[in-house]
Amino acid sequence: MKIAIVSDIHGNLEALEAVMADIEDRNIDKIYCLGDIVGYGPKPAECLRIAMDKFDLILQGNHEWGLFNDVEMYFNSIAVEGIYHARKELSDSEMDFVSELKPGKLIAPQLYVHGSVRNPLMDYVRDVAESGHEGYMKLIETIREDFKGFDTCFVGHNHKPFLGTEYGVIHPHEGMDTFQLAGEKAYVCVGSVGQPRDKDSRSCYAIFDGKQVTYVRIKYDITITSNQILQAGLPEFLATRIMQGI
Ligand SMILES: [Fe+2]
Repeated sequence: MKIAIVSDIHGNLEALEAVMADIEDRNIDKIYCLGDIVGYGPKPAECLRIAMDKFDLILQGNHEWGLFNDVEMYFNSIAVEGIYHARKELSDSEMDFVSELKPGKLIAPQLYVHGSVRNPLMDYVRDVAESGHEGYMKLIETIREDFKGFDTCFVGHNHKPFLGTEYGVIHPHEGMDTFQLAGEKAYVCVGSVGQPRDKDSRSCYAIFDGKQVTYVRIKYDITITSNQILQAGLPEFLATRIMQGI
């Protein structure tokens, strides 16, 4: 069985449609989403409708959580703007649907979460490039101590694709995008469809066939989303960051 695992769509309809077209071309059996369909982007409701129609698993991300909580306490001002926008765009029934989502699901031997094993909603799994040796030691510690009842933990939230194991961290790139998991305990960070932050502006998602993970990058027309962000009155930074992949 081939599963497409997408995450952090963030209201970027143009990116999601490009990814969905690619998924349809690849004989995929199921689509799982690791949260953050809304937030930051201009088209949260349109993205949610595609998710409700086509996805087999939808997890709650911290931006979905923000729809129902005191966002000023937990988010920066730019993220707050995106959540206010999503609150306006979603219908009552869509809000009801989102309110029922959970941030994690165990489908042994895989665990799917938005954040991390320790905190499925809010915590970040950081890579070595971002958090240095200390971060890597934390990654090893959590893999050794917290991976119980599953081998692989798929996460979104950090908007960067990488594979973290007890033996090292791998960043996928052109020509090196497929990795055998071979029963090894691993964090698989699937990257972001709608707001990649690894300096590659193309959408990112992963395909998992039970044994190996393949990362896929998809080009889409970013100017359309950027213009939609400005038209929606969202902060200008949101329109420029997706061009730069930051
Ligand atoms: Fe996110």
